[in-house]
Parts: sequence; structure tokens; C-alpha cells
Amino acid sequence: MGELQSRVQTLHRLLHQYNYEYHVQDNPSVPDSEYDQLLHELIEIEQNHPEFKTADSPTVRIGGQAQSSFEKKRHDTPMLSLSNAFSEEDLRRFDQRIRDAVGQVEYMCELKIDGLAVSLKYVDGKFVQGLTRGDGTIGEDITENLKTIQAIPLTLKESISFEVRGEAYMPRQSFLKLNEQKEKNEEQPFANPRNAAAGSLRQLDSKLAASRKLDIFIYSINDFTELDATSQSEALDKLDQLGFKTNQERSKAGSINDVIDYIEYWTEKRESLVYDIDGIVIKVNQIELQEEMGFTQKSPRWAIAYKFPAEEVVSQLHDIELSIGRTGVVTPTAILEPVRVAGTTVSRASLHNEDLIHEKDIRIGDHVVIKKAGDIIPEVVRVILDRRPDDAKTYHMPTHCPSCEHELVRIEGEVALRCINPKCQAQLVEGLIHFVSRQAMNIDGLGTKIIEQLYHNHLIKDVADIFYLTKEDLLPLERMGEKKAQNIINAIEKSKAQSLEHLLFGLGIRHLGVKASRVLAEEYETMDQLFEVTKAQLIEIHDIGEKLAQSLITYLENEDIQSLIKKLQQQNVNMTFKGQKLSNVEGHPELSGKTIVLTGKLKQMTRSEATNWLKLQGAKVTSSVTKSTDLVIAGEDAGSKLTKAKSFGTTIWNEQELIKKQNEIN
Ligand code: IVH
Repeated sequence: MGELQSRVQTLHRLLHQYNYEYHVQDNPSVPDSEYDQLLHELIEIEQNHPEFKTADSPTVRIGGQAQSSFEKKRHDTPMLSLSNAFSEEDLRRFDQRIRDAVGQVEYMCELKIDGLAVSLKYVDGKFVQGLTRGDGTIGEDITENLKTIQAIPLTLKESISFEVRGEAYMPRQSFLKLNEQKEKNEEQPFANPRNAAAGSLRQLDSKLAASRKLDIFIYSINDFTELDATSQSEALDKLDQLGFKTNQERSKAGSINDVIDYIEYWTEKRESLVYDIDGIVIKVNQIELQEEMGFTQKSPRWAIAYKFPAEEVVSQLHDIELSIGRTGVVTPTAILEPVRVAGTTVSRASLHNEDLIHEKDIRIGDHVVIKKAGDIIPEVVRVILDRRPDDAKTYHMPTHCPSCEHELVRIEGEVALRCINPKCQAQLVEGLIHFVSRQAMNIDGLGTKIIEQLYHNHLIKDVADIFYLTKEDLLPLERMGEKKAQNIINAIEKSKAQSLEHLLFGLGIRHLGVKASRVLAEEYETMDQLFEVTKAQLIEIHDIGEKLAQSLITYLENEDIQSLIKKLQQQNVNMTFKGQKLSNVEGHPELSGKTIVLTGKLKQMTRSEATNWLKLQGAKVTSSVTKSTDLVIAGEDAGSKLTKAKSFGTTIWNEQELIKKQNEIN
């Protein structure tokens, strides 16, 4: 081995070790300056000798080439969520259900970190892929950004192949610094560390993600057999040994009373942590019992998330304003004396509808209790009647639209009042704002204020006009500079390439959400084909109901819409589906989603080869046989698992049958 190559290896080893000591163990053995010096030495070698740069080099932590988008990938096993408990009563009920099913258990209590769930895949001890949760089935490949999180090991201490899951988050200190910086640059600060973490992980430029100083705690693995663990606590200890960062505040509890003590302790202490938590996760500790209980469609039966009660503060209601949504729904909004609640300042809160205002007897001038529902959306909880001023005013909704003065109607079966004037300006502006929003065309920099000005200056009347804007159109707007205007023009240009589902969603067709937009785009592939489709054909598609089908047909038959689409086409706005077809993503229909147990000795392959192949086909390989096991593959000398499978009547294959299936599929 050349001298340089051996130096590179030494640098890798040292940098990985120092990095681990600093970011995982929180116990550095060398000063930062020494780390920096070695890192720079490695960066320089890699610049001069790119052949030495490897996927797991410590230099990948600083980020690399920016990407143009994130690829969508299917999770090997779905990323589920947890059901919630909000009270001691909920917890006791959960405990009872568990004891009824499997008897007395031990619990594992863990902090519920307020960040984003990610899955990390390792093959032969190397970090190869990191996905966001996405919709639980399909996530986005954010491997490059995740590599910049120093606490994620790029190489494990053992050559193991498996997937771990954890919560990526932004420590409070990094969050405060980031927002300070944003305010200095006159950029919109993030509302809370969770949003900041989400925004950072969605950066296409991993160098930017690297600067955001995210962290992670790993909380589960999707296959316990790989670690030979029989309990959650053992699994977490083994994850520690492999080099992962797990949360050390976890604690075993022998009974639900111990769980409640743990919760009380952390309800008091949560502010002393350097990161945000939004609850406590309680899991049955023993894996065998977990497997016996299994899952519902959405979540495991053996775990629950206790959510801390939302913080409540008092404010005063100064006024009630009306806002008109893109579908014409008129929503009363509380204008409040600004107050801090759950990390941000709140000065507005939705009051939803007139019925609710009267039910809660909310009057203008009242002192009201505010909280954030799900810690995000501000809400008026109740009025403090003792503090009602004498001149508090009862509120009545107007009979006419405050924007266009068209009469408001109450559609049967709906509580909301609606403006049904299709030319109502407020609705049109909301439609434009929707069109540029993230899940639609995602045009960066084109915020509400700018859209409003452009509309009122008659520069845009419909969504297609956005693509006709020039820099000169933007420059006269308030707080607009040369650079900002150019960035917006670039963002508009870039958005033209968005895959069809974004355009469909952006058009704001009634009843058409993000998911159905994708289904349609995937099914019909081009806008032209969509124009050919009949209502009957639409209804045949899974996920498309009668209401949506009708709404879509009516929309596409409208001549104004047809000319709008032409106008978009003239500006080369993409009208084809560019994504990956979900139906073509890995996995084999025969094995995908099946729960399979391997037992006994295999002769022609190793256990882990068999496991890996089954997982590639989308199967879930577990360790113990339960009623929900779909298939048991039994090698030689299979013992109690095989007996159990027989008693349940589970399908059983021998090794030869597995090999036959492999030959068929491969
Ligand atoms: S276990 C089947 N443990 O809370 C899901 N989740 O719905 C198993 N979370 O999205 C999750 N800290 O991202 C687990 N110690 C912890 C957690 C945790 C945070 C998040 C997780 C999930 C949500 C629960």
C-alpha cells in the first residue's frame, strides 16, 4: 500500500474516532483544533487525489454537490406512527389492554424527541441510504444531508446489514443561532426547532444542511434478530455499542405506575434539556411480547406516545377579522394581543366559524385562553368570564363577502359560510398563493405579500400570468431588490419543470388533494390524456371517488380552464409525469408486505443472505412465530418455531422451496 493511501486510512480512522467521541459520547479526547487540522489535511489530499475519496470519508460530513431533487424510495417496512395518550386514564387503559393480551409486561420509557423520523440503512456496516418518513410507505432519499449529521456513524463497529430508525432534530442552541442569523439577513425565522430541522433536511444543497448543526437519536431497529436482542433495552444498548447515538434518559418501568412517575419527572424537567421533547414514548420492552401483540393498520399495539398538554396562555381579543379561502370559505380570525406560546409569538388564531364563536361565547374585548393545537396551530380555548369588560361586544358574521360584497351562502350540511362568486378577488389571490406553495409548484420567494401586490397592480390575473412575469415587473414592488427579483424569476423558471402532479394540485381543483393528484399523474402521465378521460374511467381508479371525479370532469370541460392550460403550455410549463411509478419500485407482489420467519439451519445460503433477499422482495422478516406470521421457512433441525407454525396452520416452506421461488423471481 502506498504511503499516501495508508495516511488516508489513518486519517479516516482518527477522524471517525474523534467525531464519535465528540458527537456521540460527548467526551472529546483531543482539542477541536487538532480535529480541524486532520480534516483539512484529508480535504487537501482528496482534492489532489480524488481517487482516494470514498463514500464514507469523514469529509462527506461537510456536504457535497447540490442535488436537483430528492428521489422517492419505498421503505423496506412501512414507517408507522404511534397512537397517542393525553391523560393518565389513557395510559391506564393502554396498560390494561396490554395485560389482557399478554399478561404482565415490562415497559421501556423514552423521551419523545420533537424532530423528524428518518430511517437509516446499513449494508455490511456502511451507511448506504437515509430516507424521510414521507407518507410512511414512500420516503425521500436524503442520504447526503443525513451524512452531514455528525452523530450518524458512516461505518459501524461491526459489518452488519440492517435498518435503524431515529429522530433527527435541531438542538435549541443551533436553532437560536440560526434564527438570529436569519433575522440579521432579513429572512423569515423558523417557528420552532422542529420546522428548522425539517427545512434543513429538505435542503438540496448538503453544504447548507451541514451548516445547520442537526443531531439525531436512534430509537429502533426494524429487525431485532440482526442484533440478537430480546428486548428494546438490549437493542438500544447494542446500538450504543455499534456506534449509534441513543437517548440516555431512557428507563425501564416495571408497572404503569412507574411509567407515570417517569412522565411526571420529565413534565417538570423537560425545559432543562438542550433539545425539545413533546412527550414520552412507552414501549413493551420484551420483543417476543411485542411480536405477539402486533400492529394495527397504522401503529404498533405495544407502544403509545404520551403527549404533554399544550401550554396555555392568556391574551386579549382585540377584534375579529374575516379571511376568505381559495374555495370561498369565510373564516373568522381572532386578532389578539401578541403573546408567546410554545416557542413563538401569536397574534392571530382561527375561530373556524360563527357557531363556534357563539358556543364558546367569545366577545370582542374578552380575555381568552390560547394554546397551540398539536403545538402548532394557535387556538382560542375559552373565555375568562371573570375578566369580561363591560363593553365586550357580541360578534355577528356579515351577510356579504367583505372582499366582493357578493351574498354569502351556507351550504347545506356545512357550518361554514361561503362566497360563491367565482370572480371574487380574495379567492383568486388565495388561489394564486396556493399555486406557488411548496406542495404545488413550489416557487421560492414568491410569498403572499408579493402575490397580493402583483395582483393588485394587475400584473397577474391567473396562475399562467406568473410565467409571463419579468424582472422589470418585480422591481417596483415593496422591499424588492435586484437580487431578490432575479431569484424569483429563476425560481419561476425552475418550477416549469415540476412533475404533472404539482401542477394538478396547484390548479386548486375542488376535492383534489396532494395524494389524488399524484395518483392521477401517475395513471394518465400527461395533461392531454387527462383531458380524454371519462368520469366512469376515473371512478375505477382506487383512491378516486365520485365527488372528485365529477369535480375534475367539470373543471376540464370549462372553456376558461382549457385556455388557461394552453396559456401555460405556451410558456413551456411541463405537463407530464416525471416521478417514479410506485408500482415499479422494488419488491415482489408475492412476498411484499408478508411477515416471514426463518428457522433451522439453511445449507445453501446463510441466514442473512436469505433474510436480505426476502427483504429485497418487500417482506418483513421477524424472529418469532405468531398468528400474523404469513410464512415460515424451515431449514434442518427446526424446533419449536416450526411446531408453533404448524399449530397455527401457517404456510411452511423448506429451503428447496425458497430456492425455487428465488429462481422464479430473480
Ligand atoms: S418509536 C412505530 N421512539 O414520534 C413508530 N418514536 O408517532 C415507532 N419519536 O414519528 C416510533 N421519539 O418519529 C419512537 N423514542 C422514540 C421517539 C419516537 C420521537 C417520533 C417518531 C414517530 C412519532 C410517533
